[in-house]
Amino acid sequence: MCGIVGYIGKREAAPLLLEGLRLLEYRGYDSAGMAVLDAGEIGIRKRIGRIANLGELLTERPVKGTAGISHTRWATHGGVTDANAHPHADRSGTLALVHNGVIENHSTLRDGLSAEGHVFLSQTDTEVLAHLVGKHFEAGGWTRATGNEAEGVESLVEAVRAALRQVVGTYGIAVVHRDLPGVLVGARRGSPLVLGIGRGEHFLASDVSAIARHTKEVVYLKDFDIATVSAAGFELSSVAGGQSGYEITAVEFQEKDVDKGDYPHFMLKEIYEQPETIRDAMRGRLSREEATAKLGGLNMNNAELRAVERVVLTGCGTAFHAAMVGEHLIEHLAHIPAEVEFASEFRYRNMPMPKDVLVFALSQSGETADTLAAVRESQRKGYRTLGICNNVASTIARESDGGVYMHAGTEIGVAATKSFTSQCTVLTLLALLQGRIRHLSSSEGLRMLDELEALPDKVRAILKLSDQIREIAMKYAHAQSMMFLGRQFNYPVALEGALKMKEISYIHASGHPSAELKHGIIALITPELPSVFIAPEDSVFEKNLSNIEEVRARRGPVIGIGTEGSRRLEACCDDVILIPKCPDYLSPILNAVPLQLLAYHTAVILGCDVDKPRNLAKSVTVE
Ligand code: G6P
Repeated sequence: MCGIVGYIGKREAAPLLLEGLRLLEYRGYDSAGMAVLDAGEIGIRKRIGRIANLGELLTERPVKGTAGISHTRWATHGGVTDANAHPHADRSGTLALVHNGVIENHSTLRDGLSAEGHVFLSQTDTEVLAHLVGKHFEAGGWTRATGNEAEGVESLVEAVRAALRQVVGTYGIAVVHRDLPGVLVGARRGSPLVLGIGRGEHFLASDVSAIARHTKEVVYLKDFDIATVSAAGFELSSVAGGQSGYEITAVEFQEKDVDKGDYPHFMLKEIYEQPETIRDAMRGRLSREEATAKLGGLNMNNAELRAVERVVLTGCGTAFHAAMVGEHLIEHLAHIPAEVEFASEFRYRNMPMPKDVLVFALSQSGETADTLAAVRESQRKGYRTLGICNNVASTIARESDGGVYMHAGTEIGVAATKSFTSQCTVLTLLALLQGRIRHLSSSEGLRMLDELEALPDKVRAILKLSDQIREIAMKYAHAQSMMFLGRQFNYPVALEGALKMKEISYIHASGHPSAELKHGIIALITPELPSVFIAPEDSVFEKNLSNIEEVRARRGPVIGIGTEGSRRLEACCDDVILIPKCPDYLSPILNAVPLQLLAYHTAVILGCDVDKPRNLAKSVTVE
């Protein structure tokens, strides 16, 4: 949520910053801006709207210089206006700051500064921080005329440190000063910041993908780290004072991850990647010899796994829906009581837990603030807390006690697709592993491995239905509202289908357990409200058919997602999407795919911006 890119070196900063911002646009796209230092000048440019708008502004009014910071915004404090766009300057206009996060005590700080005569030009918490750093810098007394550059850098770092000590909240920041063109200062608490190491140049970014083309080595800042970065080197200290240790990590980056290729949208590319990403989630983890799954990253031996009395799964958005699938999988296959909770609720809920509870935090980005807070609260209470993340270098991946990577490759489309099916795949492996050390026989384990291995081809077969799904989307795209219904394993899929539809097409959609229809929801059924029933030929097929009849009796149109050859489903629906058969426990993975395509085609038909839906951001790093 919000993206930061900083550069210092020998090259022109503006094009590199703009390129980095484009790669971070998925984090927020309300407005964008940059501050570039050149020969005693600071050039600040900012504009509302997409990065392309900032690009146009830079063509009209270029900025030159080899050091700068930049930002793409997802508004938290203050509306979407040019004035609220970052960077923000201090009162002297010589210091500029970009910020990702929320300064919770901003109004107290603002009042104090206003009383001292500071005048604010925006409604943002960030401008308050810029003024605060500026105030401390002024108080340090350094000027270009009286001090040397090293003293100036020290004074700037001290000013950042002093300001951050007054701050309550979260931040990833980058700061520059007009009179110190040889330095960028970065700091983090709660919002990610990574330092990229190059030859004679360095970068700061809130996500490694923004700088991965230019650097092979990075340092992930820890909370309360302050980075002092020059073209030649860097130093890490802490907000409390003193040096801070760091680790250099190699960057694994594939150009194809950030390139749409021939696809019109990242979302479609990512939907089509699923046969491979599902396979990658299983790669090296299936043991035919032992008829089970191997998940070394859990850092738990069989005795420890066997002692688990309860599993709690948490996450937000799509990851929460995958967690719901996980709840069913773990109960069904491993016979362990499982519970799922929104990360934002988990944090404040005081769940009574047995001693041997295992908490799983699911997060594609590994940076979602609510999920991270849940991880920290869970660890504080002493529960073993594991991550199921895609982003290997993320905070949740680093802070959890172990976990399983999804290996799905970068997901750029704001609407999560491949991460959902990868999460469900990983959860199936987990349930298989837990089941096999409890009651599942080796022949049951082998049968599950066969079914898992057959998944990629089945997904491939579903992708071939894309044109048929587009036809169905054409028929219903102008509906005001839609309903998604499913039972058991497919209730979470109904929620996910509704979420996809809402996120990218802006059609109001809701997901429900099919049988709940008659307890109130059926009042909404009219010939204008389409219902999507996820009704494979599973243990609740007959029940689903009855629910469909209830809708049809009230002249509600029904789209059925079912099993290939399902004549009975065909007979009672207006439209059907029939997909390959699979066991109940794998059906969320397969059923998610036609729903992703249905939402995608609907959004395209309606002319919506599929990869960057309004008001959303890919990674929500504020609570
Ligand atoms: C945001 C995104 C959702 C995503 C959720 C959780 O709300 O818009 O698509 O599912 O965050 O993200 P995570 O990275 O933790 O899986």
